[in-house]
Amino acid sequence: MALRSALWTVMTGAAQKAARSLKRDFGEVEQLQVSQKGPSDFVSAADLKAEKVLRIELAKARPRFGFLMEEGGEVAGEDAHHRWIIDPIDGTTNFLHGIPHFAISIGLEMDGEIIAGLVFNPITDEMFYAEKGKGAFLNDKRLRVSARSTLSTCVIATGIPFHGRPGHKPYLKQLERVMDAVAGVRRMGTASLDLAYVAAGRCDGFWEAGLRPWDIAAGVILVREAGGFITELDGGKNFMASGDVLAANPKVHKQLFDLLAAA
Ligand code: IPD
Repeated sequence: MALRSALWTVMTGAAQKAARSLKRDFGEVEQLQVSQKGPSDFVSAADLKAEKVLRIELAKARPRFGFLMEEGGEVAGEDAHHRWIIDPIDGTTNFLHGIPHFAISIGLEMDGEIIAGLVFNPITDEMFYAEKGKGAFLNDKRLRVSARSTLSTCVIATGIPFHGRPGHKPYLKQLERVMDAVAGVRRMGTASLDLAYVAAGRCDGFWEAGLRPWDIAAGVILVREAGGFITELDGGKNFMASGDVLAANPKVHKQLFDLLAAA
């Protein structure tokens, strides 16, 4: 059974509209790979354009809410309780390289708590959506995290720190521990989709340090509403501020936590 609320209508409508221009631009990016200059200016423009569409559409429906956006930063609203947290292209590096794995991510925060989230991959047409107390969905299908309890059968998603990011050496120690214990580690390059995949039971867990609120907001509620656990790597709850995330099904969360703590 699908969840069809007023919020769902607002959020999916905005995402669908932004996705139309993103899909067109992605087609263009695939052509630009062979040019000397590469597509980076073009992608920055696509990012800004998609963010503008999302902002206009969401503001039309909820004119008093504030915004926190990857490109546009913080915009206070008349309503100090609600704000949209938006990433118009999560997985920008994939987009830039013509890799069809990226997403629009929209979270809605109320008094510091995420109450709704949407992650949309316009290429696969997969719309992940969750609302507090109402469940998590992939298109029309209700989501549950996986039931796997043995790490050696688990697929774990992760984010590898890259150029300009700190933490390369500690990350390698974590990876060494985890890869030795699991069926496979995946680095897919879009944190919001990594979290959505945990919610969908495709991956059994995910960890990454140094994420930003717009990478995480929508995924947090997807994981929770699908029955998963989400904490910081040290078990703390402040992941929206620290950006350090460990999400997993309840049966392997503690096992992953122990591995990362031992690293
Ligand atoms: C990035 C992606 C990636 C993660 C990075 C993020 P962006 O977001 O989510 O998977 O590893 O840490 O910065 O920059 O493409 O919106």
